[in-house]
Amino acid sequence: MAEFSLPANSVISSKGKRYPAPAGAKNVRAFKIYRWNPDDGANPRYDTYELDLDQTGPMVLDALIKIKGEIDPTLTFRRSCREGICGSCSMNIDGTNTLACTQAIGDIKGEVQITPLPHMEVIKDLVPDFKHFYAQYASIKPWLQTVTPAPANEERLQSVEDRAKLDGMYECILCACCSTSCPSYWWNSDKFLGPAVLLAAYRWLADSRDEMTGERLDALEDPFRLYRCHTIMNCSNVCPKGLNPAHAIAEIKKMMVERAV
Ligand code: SF4
Ligand code: SF4
Ligand code: FES
Repeated sequence: MAEFSLPANSVISSKGKRYPAPAGAKNVRAFKIYRWNPDDGANPRYDTYELDLDQTGPMVLDALIKIKGEIDPTLTFRRSCREGICGSCSMNIDGTNTLACTQAIGDIKGEVQITPLPHMEVIKDLVPDFKHFYAQYASIKPWLQTVTPAPANEERLQSVEDRAKLDGMYECILCACCSTSCPSYWWNSDKFLGPAVLLAAYRWLADSRDEMTGERLDALEDPFRLYRCHTIMNCSNVCPKGLNPAHAIAEIKKMMVERAV
């Protein structure tokens, strides 16, 4: 599924550099990578790095680390766990938002094009600015809210069945692959919360221990925050953790209808 779209502050210059493969390399693959440095005054460009895959780890993140470590230390990207757990290495690879650490190079044919997540401001190279995304996440109050006093000497318990209702939501790693693949979010991210944040909102609406359901729904009852989702489904197709934000959004809309009747 191609969903390539340039970052928000992009004018691509044609003057990228090419770094040839080492002499004698037999298994060569080119990586065409978006570059932009806010400090040099130049337009963004694509640089192309040829790697010997026989000397490179299997994942796209392995290639990025090799480029940074052995060819071009100025290349900038985020990563931490390299296990698909932290969400840091989300980027657009070969036209799809995904995690560089779980995307196998072998599953991509030909030149590997890598850009930052679409429609976010870029800080440098492959590093997008998550400030707005995190502020939207904070706005849905992603923590347990209660009014009744906590039981003495024990936690607030829930049944096994109620706990199971949180499966498919608590696993979200806030990588933003879904939100930045959503056309509604591209055009209305100032007001539409987007699939990742709405999935998080539903995670708390679905929690049997939370006592602020009405207030949470009130906060989403707005023509933009929730209802800009037009069920295009890019979000669920792209999630690298296999989650289904579109379903969570549909469940919130159902709760809105049920409380209105
Ligand atoms: S289902 Fe909704 S949130 Fe998901 S991509 Fe489509 S419009 Fe965006
Ligand atoms: S729902 Fe999936 S794609 Fe969206 S932020 Fe969470 S883990 Fe990433
Ligand atoms: S490095 Fe943590 S998800 Fe990729």
